[in-house]
Amino acid sequence: MILAIETSCDDTCAAVLDDQRRVLSNIVSSQTAHAEFGGVVPEIAARHHLELIDAVISTALKSAGVGLDQISSVAVTQGPGLSGALLVGVSAAKGIAAARGLPLRAVNHLHGHVAASYLANPDLPHPFLCLVASGGHTLIALVESEGPNWTQLGATLDDAAGEAFDKGARLLGLDYPGGPALERLARSGDSAAFDFPTARGVDGLDFSFAGLKTSLLYKTRELGEKETLERASDLAASYQAAIARQLSERIVRAVDETGCTQLAIGGGVAANGTVREAIAEIGLPVSIPAMEYCTDNAAMIGRAAFSLNDLSPEQALSLEIFPTGRTVPQ
Ligand code: KG4
Ligand code: ZN
Repeated sequence: MILAIETSCDDTCAAVLDDQRRVLSNIVSSQTAHAEFGGVVPEIAARHHLELIDAVISTALKSAGVGLDQISSVAVTQGPGLSGALLVGVSAAKGIAAARGLPLRAVNHLHGHVAASYLANPDLPHPFLCLVASGGHTLIALVESEGPNWTQLGATLDDAAGEAFDKGARLLGLDYPGGPALERLARSGDSAAFDFPTARGVDGLDFSFAGLKTSLLYKTRELGEKETLERASDLAASYQAAIARQLSERIVRAVDETGCTQLAIGGGVAANGTVREAIAEIGLPVSIPAMEYCTDNAAMIGRAAFSLNDLSPEQALSLEIFPTGRTVPQ
């Protein structure tokens, strides 16, 4: 059995998976302290992880009905993510592995989001195109095997799709995290009310959301405070539709380029109903993880770890994190 730990951003997560790769428990403690700042504050995230990590791991073991003596290896997110946040999870994992003489596996967070596809569909056929759209990343991968060596076909040139949701939500006066709030507001709005751009100047399989955010900003200035408030649901619905359109357009381009017709999506933005609908409308088979496996969780990290080797005890003890923006140390 694998005990998996994930602390790359603001969710403190632990999960237990059995040798059949089934999820026995998946505990996520989301930090709410960031809402008043309108975004994740790295230092606050790290402190909260430190306070929560022991309880989250104990709860994961307890709800799986196992003790540490039944765990055969420990998996942990090594990066990318916030340095202080990652350090808490990696230190906890190193400590448990060293104290219990267990092997440690280091998981790339993005590999985790891709591996969530197997939690949704254990028999998912390769190759598949996987869109990972979260608060920190937006990329499209060609996945030819279960390991961490997928091919990145394109990625965002500026903001991530989740960031676009969060920033758009903020412009409409909604609290962080903005994605779910904007989706709720959009339900009563007209998605055709405003015509927002979909990264028309960006060729190939890369994404861009900065221009979209700016056009929402200009639109709110043009409308003024009162009308922005009155038409907030139309603005939200149109903005959300533009994000969904860009994501599905890139998938269609990737299908055309690769000939690959099996799709999968992951990351927090995959929890969005309009995004799911837009991708379903492409008309190809698409694997969509349950909501709890779309947003950050440790079950996906445990699932990814099945295709990784154990680190040697020396490698485990000297394991370093790799924060966002840095490449994986080899
Ligand atoms: O994957 P995730 O939990 O964390 C990262 O690795 O970043 O993704 C969080 C992001 C946030 O930007 C959040 O606003 C967005 O996913 N998100 C959503 C929805 N639920 C979460 N965006 C749109 N609609 C949602 N329902
Ligand atoms: Zn994530």
